[in-house]
Amino acid sequence: MKTEAPPKHSKILILDFGSQYTQVIGRRIRELQVYSEIVRFDTPAENIAREPPNGIILSGGPASVYENGAPQIDPKIFDLGIPILGICYGLMQMAHHLGGQVRYTGRREYGAAILDVTNGSQLFDGLGHQVDVWNSHGDEVTALPAGFRVAAHTSSSPFAAVEDPQRKLYGLQFHPEVAHTPRGREILQNFVYHICRCTMDWTMGSFIEDACERVRAQVGDNKVVLGLSGGVDSSVVAALLHKAIGDQLTCIFVNNGLLRAREEEVVQRVFGENFHIKLKYVDASGCFLRKLRGVTDPEEKRKIIGNEFIKVFQQATEELLAEDKQNGADEHSGYRFLAQGTLYPDVIESVSIGGNPAHVIKSHHNVGGLPEKMHFELVEPVRQLFKDEVRQAGLHLGLPKEIVYRQPFPGPGLAVRILGEVTPERLRILRDADTIVQSEMEASDWYYRVWQSFAVLLPVQSVGVMGDQRTYDYTIALRIVESQDGMTADWVRLPYDLLARISNRIVNEVKGVNRVVLDISTKPPSTIEWE
Ligand code: XMP
Repeated sequence: MKTEAPPKHSKILILDFGSQYTQVIGRRIRELQVYSEIVRFDTPAENIAREPPNGIILSGGPASVYENGAPQIDPKIFDLGIPILGICYGLMQMAHHLGGQVRYTGRREYGAAILDVTNGSQLFDGLGHQVDVWNSHGDEVTALPAGFRVAAHTSSSPFAAVEDPQRKLYGLQFHPEVAHTPRGREILQNFVYHICRCTMDWTMGSFIEDACERVRAQVGDNKVVLGLSGGVDSSVVAALLHKAIGDQLTCIFVNNGLLRAREEEVVQRVFGENFHIKLKYVDASGCFLRKLRGVTDPEEKRKIIGNEFIKVFQQATEELLAEDKQNGADEHSGYRFLAQGTLYPDVIESVSIGGNPAHVIKSHHNVGGLPEKMHFELVEPVRQLFKDEVRQAGLHLGLPKEIVYRQPFPGPGLAVRILGEVTPERLRILRDADTIVQSEMEASDWYYRVWQSFAVLLPVQSVGVMGDQRTYDYTIALRIVESQDGMTADWVRLPYDLLARISNRIVNEVKGVNRVVLDISTKPPSTIEWE
């Protein structure tokens, strides 16, 4: 187990038994300004003992403790003397390995319940006698291990919360981390602050300071190159590295011809003019569009764009070297390091119990990643952060709200929003339509309330009428979704008058479009992007 945190921080270690909520637990703890780290359920006790955290949380999980191949904890963890909170399956693990009894009920208890707090447990300090909680479990504890007692029950569950305060072991059948347990935050606070005695030392200010120190120690006086896309992650990395190492950082911004309107201007203004970051702008739009000519298959398009990006980026770093040499730099001062905006969810070793397909589906998003053979050493200064923390870091570093809260934009850009062949004319149409969608979403304040809002160009022509003229033009589909992480999504019920304004403006202002339709499909089974 490799720790990511500097030792001076308090830390809660989360053992992941495969729950869909494990990362939510991690985020909740960080919101309490305590550093949390997620590791596999089978992490050995001796590894944990080497850098003992202040407390351990055992996540929930989809398995039943008696199932063949059910994930099992190293029971020596219970002897480390570290406070432990078992949630749902985590509680079953505790009961199972400490001599209690767990029963597979054959039915899942799912939904809201009222918790009756009975013995004044420290876990429920300040919460009164009744608490609304959210359940989602199949197994159930039927007999407590020696030393344990009941802390709370629900009408259907006599052991909804249990504890052995002597050994500082606590178990909850329900999920304190989800929004449906409205006072769950206070329960976690009681555990983290009062039982584990963590201090609130995980703040963005301290993170940025530590991260800068780490980057300086890693790169020394070498140079670092960063592919800046204008998205949140690479933007925050740019600002952070600039703070840490100033002119040792050069950003490369590639215009692949598939960007939104004026995107290249925004990036150059924010990073070049405001931050004075060394920025190499490469206009490769011609190359990309030539390569895409006549290509209609979505995967083929993605592959071409990914490969072309690697080529262009490689060439740009060689040009940087040549420029440096011309300016008198010595030959050993090459770009040894490549910075990347890897985030914590990409780093967590995923536990897939019962085959969670989400990870497989997302793999295509890695197209466009730079190849290992480029011999760079990686600098990944935000690999400890969740997405919401990256945004906080961005604000802290002085990035404008427009960058920090911008919606995700796919690497292959508008190419995956033009069905079929990408042509300059179709790009012009989509850009114009997209600009209208964005400006109306921003003006109505909806832009920051949704996950993504964009236009898709369908190469389907239909008949329309404009003045006295018959038209035979393209269709624009509006895709506006809400989502937590892009893995699942629902379409947003926008007010009709806003939809009407967007539609009217597109058909009136965008030459080549005479019809606007609304995509009302969820993910799954649809995806967010159309290709
Ligand atoms: P889908 O279309 O798979 O998209 O439902 C889920 C989320 O991922 C974004 N996306 C991408 N991001 N490179 C990226 O960096 C890509 O190739 C890519 N494809 C999709 C998409 O915008 C949505 O937020």
